Amino acid sequence: MRALQMDSPAPDSSTTHVVRTQTPTPGPGQVSINVAYAGINFMDVMTRRGDPGYAPLGWPLVPGLEVAGTVRAAGPGVCNIQVGDRVAAKLSGGGFAEVAVADSKLVAPVPDSLDLSAAAAAPLMLATAVLLLRDVAQLRAGERLFMHKVSGGVGSVVPQVAQTLGVGVRVGSVSRSSSIDAATAAGWDHVLHHDDAIEDAARRAAGGGFDVILDPTGTTSLELDLAIAAPGARIILFGNAGGTAPAALPPFSRLLGSNVGLLGFSITALARTNPDRVTDALVAGLDMLVQRQVHLPVTVIESLTDVGAIHDLLANRVGTGKYVVHVNDRSSTCDPRLAL
Ligand SMILES: NC(=O)c1ccc[n+]([C@@H]2O[C@H](COP(=O)([O-])OP(=O)(O)OC[C@H]3O[C@@H](n4cnc5c(N)ncnc54)[C@H](OP(=O)(O)O)[C@@H]3O)[C@@H](O)[C@H]2O)c1
Repeated sequence: MRALQMDSPAPDSSTTHVVRTQTPTPGPGQVSINVAYAGINFMDVMTRRGDPGYAPLGWPLVPGLEVAGTVRAAGPGVCNIQVGDRVAAKLSGGGFAEVAVADSKLVAPVPDSLDLSAAAAAPLMLATAVLLLRDVAQLRAGERLFMHKVSGGVGSVVPQVAQTLGVGVRVGSVSRSSSIDAATAAGWDHVLHHDDAIEDAARRAAGGGFDVILDPTGTTSLELDLAIAAPGARIILFGNAGGTAPAALPPFSRLLGSNVGLLGFSITALARTNPDRVTDALVAGLDMLVQRQVHLPVTVIESLTDVGAIHDLLANRVGTGKYVVHVNDRSSTCDPRLAL
């Protein structure tokens, strides 16, 4: 089969290329999937760079953390999923390939009415938005939400998921003014350019502090987070896009004195420890798409060969919204001869 391989850590896509490799077969508790579409994520870039916490155990590797397609074969002990089912799956890697293997606990059915290209953006990106807002922040009706760096994929669905939970005002920041229009179109009530005046601008937009702050910037924005946190706020650290070493966390007294909670979130870790919670969020996200509560425009890349260029786009901060790659059409039919 064809797969995208990263040969060694690199700052750009020079070590990423398409190879022919052996088609994987599912082990106990796993299924293999004929991949129709695979979601492209900033986390692929962090893996390629070898960032601390994202570096793989070994090279070369086939990246790809989320896919949609049809089940090709089921390993021993899998009872709830049938060959030919349309599914979406959160993977620990291997998604940029014609056939991927998934833990059956991290696979959800895709309703017939939903396009597989949109479903491919649900297992990591949309599920992350659901988990951040619904489960970790436990966002309540009327609460004020702030998120940093909303020009990317996660930033494009968070405001819509927040809407389903009855959020009050939604304020996002971007580092380039050119991203403001796209982020506003994604549903943010106010999109602010991240400059020296951001603290005042954010407070003005919210009419005070924020109840939930989503921060994918490592620890670089923690001072701002604390400055704009309302009493009782939940600040959730969920990424480190710059890849820099994290600084010390704020002293105890700053959290205690204002009842502010500082939380961490990783869907990768949750998929390892509580896969059912990830799949529950994935099912909820797919249902939001079917009910049209969430609109997920994706840019479809037509070939695995072009994924490296999209990774470069994301690394150079010139991407917009969500990208998925069209891997193959085999997933649209169920061929029983493939179920071996
Ligand atoms: N914890 C989790 O479970 C989880 C799950 C999914 C995603 N994430 C994190 O969420 C963030 C967004 O993910 P995504 O897939 O939506 O990515 P994306 O579409 O590529 O967006 C990434 C964002 O990171 C910023 N960025 C890129 N390179 C950067 C750099 N060198 N330094 C600082 N900022 C940089 C860009 O914002 P600007 O251009 O505005 O700076 C861009 O908006 C990433 O940090 C990712 O690791 C975490």
